[in-house]
Amino acid sequence: MTSRRDFLKTSAGVGVGAAVSLGSAQPLRGAPAVHKSVVVPVAVASGNGLEAVETAVRSVTQGGDTLDAVVEGVNIVERDPGDASVGFGGLPNLDGVVQLDSSVMHGPSRGAGAVACIEGIKTPSSVARDVMRYTDHVLLVGEGAQRFALSMGYQLEDLLTERSRRRWIEWRATMSDRDDYLTLEETGHAVPGSSRQEDYGLGLLDSHDGVRPQGTINCNVINSDGDLSGVTTTSGLAWKVPGRVGDSPIVGAGLYVDNDVGACGSTGRGEAVIKTCGSHSVVELMRSGMSPTDACLEALRRIVTFTVEPRLRNADGRPSFGVNYYAINKNGDHGGASIYSGGRYAVCRDGETRHEDLAYLFERRG
Ligand code: GLY
Repeated sequence: MTSRRDFLKTSAGVGVGAAVSLGSAQPLRGAPAVHKSVVVPVAVASGNGLEAVETAVRSVTQGGDTLDAVVEGVNIVERDPGDASVGFGGLPNLDGVVQLDSSVMHGPSRGAGAVACIEGIKTPSSVARDVMRYTDHVLLVGEGAQRFALSMGYQLEDLLTERSRRRWIEWRATMSDRDDYLTLEETGHAVPGSSRQEDYGLGLLDSHDGVRPQGTINCNVINSDGDLSGVTTTSGLAWKVPGRVGDSPIVGAGLYVDNDVGACGSTGRGEAVIKTCGSHSVVELMRSGMSPTDACLEALRRIVTFTVEPRLRNADGRPSFGVNYYAINKNGDHGGASIYSGGRYAVCRDGETRHEDLAYLFERRG
């Protein structure tokens, strides 16, 4: 009998190449009809990903692997203490602990890896890639994810910056009039080092209910061979219930890549994206022939339909939260859409890095 380990050993010589030829020999039905054999490399990301898309395109142009390219790109944001939505400096959960979520998908090898609720590791996207490369699993969570990361040589670090800690203390003070924490007005003292007017970089974040900041970075790339990869990484919803997992580490929700069709990722309220299998839906809509932007808009309409809870609807019955999708198809066409107007996404193509407007379903009011 051949064990899995023996099988891997005997097939090691063919590896990724075998996966590619198998995929090409049996294309899935409905892949985009027009497939240019040479594609101009393109990367798209959420609005906070200008450096990420530039890095990703530079990397694939120099012959780098598509997944390494996007992970290298988002690592910049994960390590940036100024971005309170991702990695180091991310806003913490209810208990003041930063818990991070991330997933990756590698188009050519059909690989996927993810970590959820991981603490103390600055670059969860790199750990997600290691889950894909060095285990037989797709998703590791919590303490197990952290132990795996430490076994791979990652350093345990305090991810709570002074700025995000102050922000959490201020939130705690305003959370309830029935607990034993004094409100900021009652205490008569500012939180040490705090300035209420301080810019916490939250302009980069979506506000899911007008109060709780939420942000993420998604980045997808296509190289000149038409190979695709994507990554999504986040500190999730600020002040979340400990253990809460958003869409970012859920394959098919916060990220989906099918190397025959395209790639998509999301930012915004993860619960809405999970319930509608958001990124997978966008890729399937592109498979049926929709442009990336139209596919993103249609997936957002499904979210609107699914949002029946009064607590999640505005007075006009529309969602009281934001969701954005960012997509590239197999031809290198790209697009993105948001529930409300005013959003932008980052694009790098043809040596130019810029923001483009997201398409949207509804004008933002007020
Ligand atoms: N989309 C990020 C989250 O909900 O955690």
